[in-house]
Amino acid sequence: MTLTTRKFDALIVGAGGAGLRAALQLSNAEARVAVVSKVFPTRSHTVAAQGGVNAALANVLPDSWHWHMFDTVKGSDYLGDQDAIEYMCRAAPKVVYELEHFGVPFSRLEEGNIYQRAFGGQSQHFGKEQAARTCAAADRTGHAILHSLYQQNLRAQTHFFDEYFAIDLIKDETGHVLGVVAFDILSGEPIVIEAKTTLIATGGAGQIFRTNTNALSNTGDGMAMALRAGVPLEDMEFVQFHPTGIAGRGMLITEGARGEGGFLINDQGERFMERYAPNAKDLASRDVVSRAIAIEVREGRGCGRNKDHTLLDLRHLGADTIMKKLPGIREVSMTFLGVDPIEAPIPVFPTCHYSMGGIPTNRDGQVVVPVKDTPEDPVPGLYAAGEAACVSVHGANRLGGNSLLDILVFGRAAANHILDFLKDNRQHRPLHQESVDQALARLARWDRKGEGEAVEPLRRELRKVMEDHCGVFRTAEVMQEGVTRLHELRERIDNAVIRDHSRTFNTARVEAMELENLMDCAMATIVSALGREESRGAHSRMDFTDRDDERWLRHSLYSLQDDAMDYKPVRTQPVTVESFPPKERVY
Ligand code: FUM
Repeated sequence: MTLTTRKFDALIVGAGGAGLRAALQLSNAEARVAVVSKVFPTRSHTVAAQGGVNAALANVLPDSWHWHMFDTVKGSDYLGDQDAIEYMCRAAPKVVYELEHFGVPFSRLEEGNIYQRAFGGQSQHFGKEQAARTCAAADRTGHAILHSLYQQNLRAQTHFFDEYFAIDLIKDETGHVLGVVAFDILSGEPIVIEAKTTLIATGGAGQIFRTNTNALSNTGDGMAMALRAGVPLEDMEFVQFHPTGIAGRGMLITEGARGEGGFLINDQGERFMERYAPNAKDLASRDVVSRAIAIEVREGRGCGRNKDHTLLDLRHLGADTIMKKLPGIREVSMTFLGVDPIEAPIPVFPTCHYSMGGIPTNRDGQVVVPVKDTPEDPVPGLYAAGEAACVSVHGANRLGGNSLLDILVFGRAAANHILDFLKDNRQHRPLHQESVDQALARLARWDRKGEGEAVEPLRRELRKVMEDHCGVFRTAEVMQEGVTRLHELRERIDNAVIRDHSRTFNTARVEAMELENLMDCAMATIVSALGREESRGAHSRMDFTDRDDERWLRHSLYSLQDDAMDYKPVRTQPVTVESFPPKERVY
């Protein structure tokens, strides 16, 4: 059988906001660009982003990029790299105005400016009054952005491989990345897509947890591909639990609901956030609010028959505000709970939402590998952006509204660097057949027939192990048990088979390879979490309750080979302003 081969200047794996923003920049500069996506592009997870994108536009309240930078550094619990954070916060207004010009239908203020709402962890004057920095299109901002970016890409003639699954990176013996081997989910045919540069923009790995806000497709495919290509993952222990998931189910109720004035109550009707964050209250940073909810439930002040959740009360906002500013979450709440927030509070509990960690990159989106005692080296031809990457602008805890910003700023920055790279690298490098064969073998391995466990129950078990052993509160003992269980699962996955070789065979192959990817991301998360003996941001250890800057103000690096851990320093120096030194973090 001859293998189909296609060649492009730039290949982008993933069609969410980061991938499409990068693709647009490249196509508009007349590079030959292809986007590979396992789902139709407008089904990518960016479509589910609700509350908005942060930029210091000062449309509603005075604001400055410097205050935004301070909030982001503090929100990251001082683990974010301050040069990258400065770059992102300075670029924010520009990328939002670009979106406006691409046709994103932002909500508007009376005088016509972009509407901005308050979100958690935002402040004016370096931690004083609440800011209003999140630019919103009602509570469907991601939907508006993704559709506009897709349409702009169609106009710019970006080439799309819709519903193709990327199996693995192609890499030669000198370490250059040369594209990917993918397969067409409809026909099952493999394809080699050669590219002078490859950008991983596959999003996060939220599906490693049973309860999450993520699309089913968020299986950490790009992160796992990087691991298999020898790139370690950075800061994987930092998983964000969004405070307001629909209780028991996990779907997102936007922080914008609290930004518009909603508040949390316990079984006594008490606004308990006043105890945990006397100033910011319900708009404290997400890690703080999630822990507060978990503590309320643990101490017996939860609501409902099982006392296993708290309530988000929006009733006082009134029907007009809810229908105009929060129509999407009203619909979600009515659909999944039968609760109309105009009339009754919504049952909520923390739910896995976001991977702060990912593939290590610099500010230009180049994937960088730390080499002992030398500066970080870029992997030639390989880039990453968005949730799959770790720049790191979110450190130990991301602020709401900074993820849409991250994908836009760093999708664009990576594309600009790729354009420079292409000027100096005009020819395709020779294909490396051994690497292609390895990827094809990974696909063929799932054609094996015979006895073995099925994929879906293993996926369920993996997600349960992570929920039980690596959740909001962590201890060494519980995580160690989780690691042991994952090791057993890994072996069982190696021996699993696809039971149903019927019409759905290709989607079954996708699910099987997704399971392998989930396994690698789950192991990276729990091993990194076990290694970090302190509490910082979203990583909360009951056996190491304090932040320990002396030992742990550093990034973790997990490698697949032997599940090994390594560490690298945090870049505490911004580019043009003074550093924000670590302080006690209170809201
Ligand atoms: O709550 C939200 O709307 C989520 C926003 C975000 O994660 O940035």
